[in-house]
Amino acid sequence: MTQALAAKTALPRLLEGLADGPLVTLERHHAVHGPMPSPQELDRAELVELIADCALRGRGGAAFPVARKMRAVAAARGRPILVANGCESEPLSGKDALLLRELPHLVLDGATLVARAIGAQRVILAVKHSAPERALLERALAERAARAFDDVSFEVFAGAATFIAGQETAVVSQINGGPALPTFQPPRVSERGVGRRPTLVQNVETLAHIALIARHGSDWHNAIGSTNEPGSTLVTVVCAGGTRSVFEIAYGTRLDDVLAAARVDTAAIGGLLLGGYFGTWLPTSVAGELRLSHEELRRCDASLGCGVIAALPASACPVAETVRVSAYLASQSAGQCGPCVHGSSAIARRLEAASRGSAGTLAFEDVRRWTLEIQDRGACHHPTGLGRFVGSALRTFRREFEDHARHGPCAACTAKAMLT
Ligand SMILES: Cc1cc2nc3c(=O)[nH]c(=O)nc-3n(C[C@H](O)[C@H](O)[C@H](O)COP(=O)(O)O)c2cc1C
Ligand code: SF4
Repeated sequence: MTQALAAKTALPRLLEGLADGPLVTLERHHAVHGPMPSPQELDRAELVELIADCALRGRGGAAFPVARKMRAVAAARGRPILVANGCESEPLSGKDALLLRELPHLVLDGATLVARAIGAQRVILAVKHSAPERALLERALAERAARAFDDVSFEVFAGAATFIAGQETAVVSQINGGPALPTFQPPRVSERGVGRRPTLVQNVETLAHIALIARHGSDWHNAIGSTNEPGSTLVTVVCAGGTRSVFEIAYGTRLDDVLAAARVDTAAIGGLLLGGYFGTWLPTSVAGELRLSHEELRRCDASLGCGVIAALPASACPVAETVRVSAYLASQSAGQCGPCVHGSSAIARRLEAASRGSAGTLAFEDVRRWTLEIQDRGACHHPTGLGRFVGSALRTFRREFEDHARHGPCAACTAKAMLT
């Protein structure tokens, strides 16, 4: 590796320059990142090749290979549309809001480059209607429009703020004037999405990575991270009191290094939730050996999802937190797939009753069985995510759940919820 490459490969990458304040003007953005490549400097096929060489996966939660999605949309019949998904419906995540608020031009550059590559002229930026980032994004767009900066047209779409509203078919449904509910597939949105056109939905962080890949190339991108998963990713670390901090880490970073960066004392935490409300509870003991890559996490049935790492203080009650989040998730079922509607609420109710001490320890066996029965049984991943969350809680906090079933709520049950 050359000296110059080594200097450029250090972290932060996406978050570069932020220590001196947000990069909300084009002037500051260009001072830190340099200009976006023109179509002459980087043609359509080259960008998709670069993204494939970087093995880039989506950062919205499902970690799907980006180049494969781009190729599918570009090959579909009709002029495609790009949707930048900035809804960030996961309650514990803060990374997409940070990008939209403080690095909007990185997201907009990525969107322009991807739109060019798939032959889209229209880009829709989807955010929650309640998001304060909306006005900032519109200001960034106005600055670009005044300088005739982009060869694609942008519009901001303000959608619902519910948990499932950020799922890609629910985003497309809203843009089409429908309800904020996932729709059944096929057809996939890549074939028939916004206005019945082929639609590519990418998370805003994914687009920000593409803005840098287009500038610096795949060798630069792949110089950090692990061999199978090169590059960096944003994570939101949630600590005691619900405080959130966003970090950029290289794939393969040890979990305890991330916790140390967030000043979490692992001796004072009682469990770790990886991946947010759809995530997996793990015992604190894994922190010293677990590296944050999809491959390693899969081995303990976990995933980074949209990058949430929550460190539950030892003084908090994991049973109360799990019961509360499951009830929330059950309430967020869109009510259109039987196994999800009935399964989610049955799981949440039974878990709550058992944890109150009114259903006995055997109730957990019912819950465990139901979490498996609802896997992959809906139009979206909602039941699968809920099942993973509850199933992992029962594994990781077995003793605590049994204590609650025998003796009822503990003293910490009434403390302020942390995972909100
Ligand atoms: C219930 C649910 C909620 C979701 N919410 C979001 C969201 O808020 N933002 C997002 O980018 N992806 C969200 N996703 C994932 C999207 O469906 C989709 O996979 C993603 O936007 C694609 O972009 P990516 O490939 O760049 O990750 C959600 C998925 C599910 C199942
Ligand atoms: S699986 Fe659940 S949340 Fe997803 S569409 Fe069906 S009912 Fe709605």
